[in-house]
Amino acid sequence: MIRLGVIGYGHRIHNVIDSCLRQVEPDLRVVGIVDPDQAGVRARLAPCDQQDARFYDSLDELVRSARPDALAIGTRCNLHAPYAIEAARYDLPLYLEKPVAISMAQAIALEEAFEGSRCPVVISFPLRVSPLCELARRYIQEGAVGEPVHIAALNYVPYGTVYWEKEYRNFEITQGLFVQKATHDLDYMSYLMGSPIVRVAAMATWGHVFGGTKAAGLACSACDEQETCLESPRNRRRNATSGTHLDHDCVFSVDAGSVETGTNEDCSSALVEYASGAHGIYTQVFYARRDAATRGATVSGYMGTVRFDWYTNELHRVRHHAPYSATERAGEGASHFGGDIELAYDFIGLIRGTATSRTPIEAGLRSIYACLAAKESAETGRFVDVRQVGAVNGPRT
Ligand SMILES: NC(=O)c1ccc[n+]([C@@H]2O[C@H](COP(=O)([O-])OP(=O)(O)OC[C@H]3O[C@@H](n4cnc5c(N)ncnc54)[C@H](O)[C@@H]3O)[C@@H](O)[C@H]2O)c1
Repeated sequence: MIRLGVIGYGHRIHNVIDSCLRQVEPDLRVVGIVDPDQAGVRARLAPCDQQDARFYDSLDELVRSARPDALAIGTRCNLHAPYAIEAARYDLPLYLEKPVAISMAQAIALEEAFEGSRCPVVISFPLRVSPLCELARRYIQEGAVGEPVHIAALNYVPYGTVYWEKEYRNFEITQGLFVQKATHDLDYMSYLMGSPIVRVAAMATWGHVFGGTKAAGLACSACDEQETCLESPRNRRRNATSGTHLDHDCVFSVDAGSVETGTNEDCSSALVEYASGAHGIYTQVFYARRDAATRGATVSGYMGTVRFDWYTNELHRVRHHAPYSATERAGEGASHFGGDIELAYDFIGLIRGTATSRTPIEAGLRSIYACLAAKESAETGRFVDVRQVGAVNGPRT
């Protein structure tokens, strides 16, 4: 049996444990939990965990009393780094949610904590390990494009309204969508290009679509614009558009923050330079709906182009200097495009000592350093150098 300790037993980590880790290792039990919302956790816990799972006030108490074989951190973004810094002391395999930090101070402290640690980590980056991305990476490594010289990555998010509802609009916790969302994309882009991002120029557009002046705490059920508002449950249902069809927080409320206090962007883009000298672009759009959805990348070099999209589940290879092109389709229906189950295989393998992590702590750090540079660039209008993992005197803002 694998004994798992969980810090922050929320919706995401419950799904990872119940649908993915247990699919790979049915004999896994949650034996210890640190989470102030015991009632909420009890309502989520699987029947097989209800008896063994005990609550503890601290990670230290959990490790000493519950004797876990591994740890998982599933709190909201602002607590990932503080808890991971503590976890680094125990050398237990750690499943860590992304983003690994929400500020440069947190990220540097996290890197320092792991410098002397033997704690092996799986960062929750399902896109990098998804079969479609791995296939693209293999073709690129085999020379399908020659030297990769450019990457163009798009992320038109059809469920973007979640970032203006619930906790995702709490800027204190998330620090915006470069940190919250692009951390996945800048990670897999570097993986495909085989090189870290060293410089970023970014732009963002705030307050043109979501956010606004509606009252704090307003929900659709209490709003007198349900007939006309395109975001009301009845209109989302009627127009067959994405987002919850149940009563929800107003996406045009002051609760979403403002440019002055910090708020999520309607859309944002980054121009990125790689250590290899290649460059690329990344764009994320959060008001897209229905089949406007797209997420994937086009990597090119003199010899060819490799392009894939997780929504169509297709990969195209074009030979620039021969009359052949190929299209391949991936299987459908898997969580995070098949990436979540791959992460589960990695994590269980790490615990069993039979696998190494494909998303180690360095991947999380490299990505957050690039995301923080993008955020800073969008805020200041300047190119920003990206701090590199292992840099003694890298940028500290
Ligand atoms: N990797 C991915 O693809 C992916 C997908 C979805 C969400 N996420 C990330 O997962 C994280 C959690 O999201 P969620 O939707 O599950 O949130 P959630 O609110 O459901 O879960 C957070 C949990 O942390 C608990 N918590 C609050 N304060 C705590 C504290 N001081 N100590 C310990 N626990 C505490 C809460 O009670 C809650 O149970 C977010 O950071 C989000 O970005 C990642």
